[in-house]
Amino acid sequence: RELLLLNGPNLGILGRREPEVYGTATLADIEALVSAEVAPRGWSVRPVQRDCEGALVGAVHDGDDTVGAIVNPGALMIAGWSLRDALANYPHPWIEVHLSNVWARERFRHESVLAPLATGLIAGLGPAGYRLAARALLDLVAD
Ligand code: DQA
Repeated sequence: RELLLLNGPNLGILGRREPEVYGTATLADIEALVSAEVAPRGWSVRPVQRDCEGALVGAVHDGDDTVGAIVNPGALMIAGWSLRDALANYPHPWIEVHLSNVWARERFRHESVLAPLATGLIAGLGPAGYRLAARALLDLVAD
């Protein structure tokens, strides 16, 4: 059983991306955190980070065989309509995660076109948000 861990544009450079906003953990650190959380249940993680929306859409299409997903869409939260439509067809629970508290930031980050479709949303807790999302999916998905 695999958990889809989808990260959008600019998240591949975590660790050196505006560390005052996003911290110093790398995406590899976050992937390890999620893996460690789901490993006791025998799940593995399918990590996908892409800067292009189309590649993320493809990963969602290819994700039907996963059990659930954690999605940090990055700035695609604002107008990623094709990612939104792909997720509308994703047949498993998925959780939107943002490292930062987007509502404490610029107004253009206050609306997510994806959030109405998500099972839940976590924002502002940094890398721990991914771990908590994984924990929630473990509870939501029956083996
Ligand atoms: C982000 C918040 C988005 O507004 C931003 O465009 C990102 C990262 C976060 O994890 O806090 O790329 O999704």
